[in-house]
This record gives sequence, C-alpha cells and structure tokens, in this order.
Amino acid sequence: MRIDIITVLPELLKSPFEASILKRAIEKGIVEVHMHNLRDYTNLSYNQIDDYQFGGGAGMVMMIEPIDKCISALKEEREYDEVIYMTPDGETLNQKIANGMSLLNNVIILCGHYKGVDQRVRDMFVTREISIGDYVLSGGELGAAVLCDTIIRLIPGVLNNETSALTDSFQDDLLAPPVYTRPAEYKGMKVPEILLSGNFPKIEKWREDQAYDRTKKLRPDLLKD
Ligand code: ADE
Repeated sequence: MRIDIITVLPELLKSPFEASILKRAIEKGIVEVHMHNLRDYTNLSYNQIDDYQFGGGAGMVMMIEPIDKCISALKEEREYDEVIYMTPDGETLNQKIANGMSLLNNVIILCGHYKGVDQRVRDMFVTREISIGDYVLSGGELGAAVLCDTIIRLIPGVLNNETSALTDSFQDDLLAPPVYTRPAEYKGMKVPEILLSGNFPKIEKWREDQAYDRTKKLRPDLLKD
C-alpha cells in the first residue's frame, strides 16, 4: 500500500511513522508513506495557501489551487483508490471502515486546517471524508495519523502474530476480554483460575463470555443489532 499525505505541517506527522509497528511496516516494504507539504505547491508570496472566506466570517479557508496542483501531480504518477479528506464532519472512523481501507493500494489523505478547504476541493477531488470523532482538532494531521495506524496494522505481515489483529476489540463488535501475564499472583491479586487450567476449549468459552459481559457493561450500543 502507498499512502500520500498532503499537509501544511509535515513535521507534526513524522513521529508516528518513525516508531514501533508503523516504522517496521515501512522498513519491511509493506507500506510506503509520503508527505507532501502544500506550501511547495503555491506560487503566492509567503507561500500562502489560505485566504479569507467569501461572504465574510471568521477563519481562513484553504485555497483550491495548491491542493489541485498537488493532487494532480500525484494522479499523473499512479491511480488512486481514494482521496480521503480528514474533517470533523466526515463519517466517523470505526473498525469496519479501517478493515475495508486496509485492502486498498494507493490512497491520498488530505489534512484540513483553519476553517477547512474550499468546498470545490471536496466536490472535485475528495472521494471519502473521515472524522476520528465528535470533537475538533486543530488540523487533520493527528486524525490522519490515527487513520494510518488503524489501517496499516491490519495489512497482512505487519503484525508479528497475525491473529492478534483479528482478536482485537471491535473486530467482532465486541470489546476484548481481559488479559493477564506473570506473575500468577501479585500482592494477593490472583489471575482467574481457568487461565491456568490448560483446558483450551474452556478458556476460549471463558474469553467469549468475558468479551460479551464487558461489552454489555461498557458499550451496550455495540450489541444493539
Ligand atoms: N480535523 C479537525 N477535527 C477532526 C476530526 N475530529 N477528525 C478528523 N479530522 C479533523
């Protein structure tokens, strides 16, 4: 998979890709992530990429021309499955959306700032709009990092133990069951006996019950259908 991220703040986006699982996925050649600084695509003085909104009102709007130049240059090199715009008024990201996106080959992610982008960018180029939750970030970059993390960890070969992504919370609309490791007893707190029993069918059943009980208690909305 190749991900091209269009941003005014590439430095804000670097570190998630320089550590841990995402770094390893890039080193293994499973995913390529390229940052494009929008200011490299403007001819205006002071590398301007935003302007006042028509009709008045507070806040600047990102102009269409630099975004058009950047997206068009990328599209000349290859075909893209999606051009995703990170925005609080997009579809709320969930595991199902991430699962679907992990199957794509080439994706552009556009990070919004200020009051957002000129509507014509959304009408002309954007194929999908994603929010990471009902709150407003100062820009789309942190949202883009979250989206990339959820997608990339699902690509086969990225996680060492491939089954571990399949047993994550939300993969079957249930929260994950509790997990324990050594020691079997810590300051009087014991690991549930069943996990030490070696009876794997029983352990599996216990985990399913725990996942269901936790979901019912903490996220009953997930059980609705
Ligand atoms: N940009 C600003 N707020 C955002 C959000 N909640 N999700 C995605 N992008 C955003």
